[in-house]
Amino acid sequence: MSKIINVKYEGKTRYDIVIESGFEKLADAFNKLGITGRKLCVITDSNVGPLYADDVKNELEKTGNKVFEYTFNAGEVNKNLNTVQDVYEYLINNHFDRNDCLVALGGGVVGDLTGFCAATYLRGIKFIQVPTSLLAQVDSSIGGKTGVDFRAYKNMVGAFHQPELVYMNMSVLKSLGRRLFNSGFGEIIKHGLIKDKDYYVWLRENVDKIKALDTDALEHMIYVSCNIKREVVENDPKEKGDRALLNFGHTLGHAIEKEMNFSLYHGECVVLGMIAALNICVSLGTITKEERDDALELFRLYEFPDYVTGINIDDVITVSKSDKKMDAGKVKFILLKSIGDAYIDRNISDEQMREALEGVIR
Ligand SMILES: NC(=O)c1ccc[n+]([C@@H]2O[C@H](COP(=O)([O-])OP(=O)(O)OC[C@H]3O[C@@H](n4cnc5c(N)ncnc54)[C@H](O)[C@@H]3O)[C@@H](O)[C@H]2O)c1
Repeated sequence: MSKIINVKYEGKTRYDIVIESGFEKLADAFNKLGITGRKLCVITDSNVGPLYADDVKNELEKTGNKVFEYTFNAGEVNKNLNTVQDVYEYLINNHFDRNDCLVALGGGVVGDLTGFCAATYLRGIKFIQVPTSLLAQVDSSIGGKTGVDFRAYKNMVGAFHQPELVYMNMSVLKSLGRRLFNSGFGEIIKHGLIKDKDYYVWLRENVDKIKALDTDALEHMIYVSCNIKREVVENDPKEKGDRALLNFGHTLGHAIEKEMNFSLYHGECVVLGMIAALNICVSLGTITKEERDDALELFRLYEFPDYVTGINIDDVITVSKSDKKMDAGKVKFILLKSIGDAYIDRNISDEQMREALEGVIR
């Protein structure tokens, strides 16, 4: 079984998201781009490279291109300008020019960093995404947001740069550790909460199948999530409006991620941020306590921690204000009008954030 989603950019077909259960169709999908006789550089990290780089390189060698590989140490701590410089150096030493192409093979860190290198090397070269974590498959590989962290600031330096292709092989999810696999559900549950109540209900009803990596359930889930992301980014590619809804849980989630020194996974922090946002929704009366508790139960079923210790609520609020999600000095907070329907609120006070974080930071 395979599925293809067509993504438009500024009204025109721009790239395909190909959902497969192996790498065997990668060369065919790549050939459609018409890139041949060029150089390709597979950029990957020290965990994913040893597992999948050879398979991907073997496939890409069938496309009539010369394939290189650059591997950097895995982890968010390496999603920074130092690694970007190392990649530039590797590309320069191997004489990559503007018609060559990068291949991001890995999770969201590899995708964001490779995309940023592609956006900036020689003022922009092509790249494709081969996402390998659940989070990267359903979220970060789609939509062209690329970037790196700068000092303590998450994703502070970046560019919008669309991929030529997103090719995902669902079977690589088997090598993700359980906690890492589960952390991908942060963004998936978010998709249901902000855009699609039926999907949110489906995620609850199918927890067992999904956690057992049932192929049909996984494929359906990845397809629906990619499609939600597609719709949002097509309507607002540069985050001038509704794309900000995808930041549900991220304003406080990013601040928690930073305050915890990146010891928790991104998806885990997003869930903590979503819990705080849901607490605000309850106090504003847009959702009921029962609906909030129902969401908490779903987070528990996917094994998310629902609180953290050792950090300070006021520090999290301060850090959240240095995040990019500010608009004319006000925090752009994403909240729910109801389950499946999100909106942007610019009037959330520090006191409301403090109250909302009380159960989340103990
Ligand atoms: N660009 C966007 O729109 C967007 C959206 C959401 C998140 N993000 C970014 O994505 C990043 C988080 O992504 P992530 O959770 O994938 O983190 P990650 O890339 O660090 O991957 C997590 C870990 O899993 C390993 N890994 C990945 N795939 C594997 C596989 N198949 N088998 C075994 N190990 C594997 C990686 O080596 C890493 O150690 C953050 O930097 C976040 O800011 C970007």
